[in-house]
Amino acid sequence: MKIVMLADLHGNLPATLAMDAMLQQVQPDEVWFLGDAVGKGPSNAETCDWVRSHCTLCLGGNWDYGIGGKEFAEDGYFWAQLGPERMDWLKNLPREAEVTLGGIRFRLFHGRPVTPLMRVNDDKELLGQAFHTGKGDFGGVIFADSHRPFVRSLQDGYIINTGSVGNSLGVNRAHALLVEGEKGDTPAPLMFTILSVPYDNQAAADIARQDEHLPHRDAYINEIITGKYSR
Ligand SMILES: [Fe+2]
Repeated sequence: MKIVMLADLHGNLPATLAMDAMLQQVQPDEVWFLGDAVGKGPSNAETCDWVRSHCTLCLGGNWDYGIGGKEFAEDGYFWAQLGPERMDWLKNLPREAEVTLGGIRFRLFHGRPVTPLMRVNDDKELLGQAFHTGKGDFGGVIFADSHRPFVRSLQDGYIINTGSVGNSLGVNRAHALLVEGEKGDTPAPLMFTILSVPYDNQAAADIARQDEHLPHRDAYINEIITGKYSR
């Protein structure tokens, strides 16, 4: 089966629609969401609704809980866009899930608030902590949050990042992870593919430029144009 795992849409509708077109080519059996549908960009109701209508498994990210739970006063712009029903959904998303694929037990989460921010170059000790929990040991960790896709192995197992659909850093395209294989304990082949999808970054920037109330608007525009973190 084909499972696409994606995250960090962050209110970027052109990037989300480009990924949607890619998914129509890939034809996955399931699409799983690993957090941060909202925040940063200008089209939050749209990206939240896209997740809810396309994803069969949904986990929360730090922005989903922060906005949904009204944790920060400066997020009023996002509250007004989303309204109470969506915010309630965001704030109640589960933090973790697990799945066994091809005989490997994978732990899935967004990143924060479950762990500190984990990046590809962080030390193996920090990254390795994610494999060992009160629910036992995992042979793989799949997460998001750092906005950079990667597939690598550690002594503990595979560590895989979905990258970001709407706010990629490094390479400013929309990213997601395609996993191909069979669910279950039987050892079997697996394939991990990074989906790398170009989108109209200038059109996404223009939507933000037309919205003077978007918090940290210049930083957001710079990030989607350059792929450089700007706050
Ligand atoms: Fe994020």
